[in-house]
Amino acid sequence: MSTESFRILQVGLGNRGRMWGQVIGREAGIAVSGVVDVNPATAAAFAAEHPAVPVFTELEAALAATQSDAVLLVTPPDGHLAQARQIFAAGLPLLAEKPLTLDLAEAVTLVDLARQAQLPLAVGLNFRYLPVSRRIRELVAGGTLGEPGFGQFTYQRNRDGRLPWLNKYPLTMRHPMMLEQSIHHLDLIRFCYARPVESVLCRTWNPRWSLYAHDSNVACLLQLAGGLEVNYQGTWSGGWNQLRFEWRTDLSEGVIVQRQLFSDLAVARTDDTELTPLELAACEPFYDDSAALLRSFVGHVRHGALLECSGADHLITLALCFAAIESSETGCAVHLPEFCARHGIALSV
Ligand SMILES: NC(=O)c1ccc[n+]([C@@H]2O[C@H](COP(=O)([O-])OP(=O)(O)OC[C@H]3O[C@@H](n4cnc5c(N)ncnc54)[C@H](O)[C@@H]3O)[C@@H](O)[C@H]2O)c1
Repeated sequence: MSTESFRILQVGLGNRGRMWGQVIGREAGIAVSGVVDVNPATAAAFAAEHPAVPVFTELEAALAATQSDAVLLVTPPDGHLAQARQIFAAGLPLLAEKPLTLDLAEAVTLVDLARQAQLPLAVGLNFRYLPVSRRIRELVAGGTLGEPGFGQFTYQRNRDGRLPWLNKYPLTMRHPMMLEQSIHHLDLIRFCYARPVESVLCRTWNPRWSLYAHDSNVACLLQLAGGLEVNYQGTWSGGWNQLRFEWRTDLSEGVIVQRQLFSDLAVARTDDTELTPLELAACEPFYDDSAALLRSFVGHVRHGALLECSGADHLITLALCFAAIESSETGCAVHLPEFCARHGIALSV
């Protein structure tokens, strides 16, 4: 086993990049080889705080000047394909933030580039590593509450995208809710239920008072293998500043209810009068889950361990988002295997 630190070149020092900096800083055996941000003021501010870390304003220069084992890409998604080309040309594995791209054909190209270069590609679906997500997955797979029949996933938030610490591009992009936020939720539905999505019927829209230029509401009916039906609703333009979250799964012999974003899981058998809360490991959301994702990526690069959040797997979640958008545009349900075949996406990874 290698005792050398695993060296990561981090690209992007914005809202999420600052979190990643802390995650890497806390991880034994993982070190930053350098950082890149095209914004000179951001790069200079980082350099002042971290005088020992090489700081660059161009990816090409950073790739040439640093010795790295992998790149962590935390830039807005519209630049991911061009940046990935440079990273793979330099022969480096890549952990890229979600969404992999804002265009499905670009994402297919990016995953192909990694495959051709035989380089690992992972995507930042960190919420899969929350203890609450792992536990839902185990409960469903374990079958102690019977067969899952239907689920209801509700995420209601009034997200003020103008706040200084939040990224600004979602205010003007197309489908900010679907591609920035619902993508995590649809990925969790795939991951926790561990069965393929067969079809999606969706509406996306923008309430009149929305701060976003494009649709900040998503409602989907998903049909999963085995007759499991899931009703999803998400908004960034709720009429109340209090965040409301609930993910309830009804099974043949009970229910599983996640009552808070990131935590608070409870179960009941059909005849119970109360829900019973389940104990979960402590977790600081965005940090501990990202650290687990990072360790999984490093384990894959170093030892060939299973890559749970691979680029090829992410293509299926991204395809689900774009199939949902197509459904909203046509008013018809979209059959996911047919949609993936049409876009050259493999459903088994
Ligand atoms: N997984 C999660 O929980 C999570 C949470 C927040 C954001 N994200 C994702 O992280 C990514 C970045 O989001 P953010 O909130 O940090 O955005 P941001 O706008 O706050 O920061 C992006 C940074 O990238 C820099 N940048 C832009 N183009 C660059 C380039 N070509 N080379 C180097 N630097 C460049 C910008 O100057 C900026 O500092 C997005 O894909 C977003 O969806 C993921």
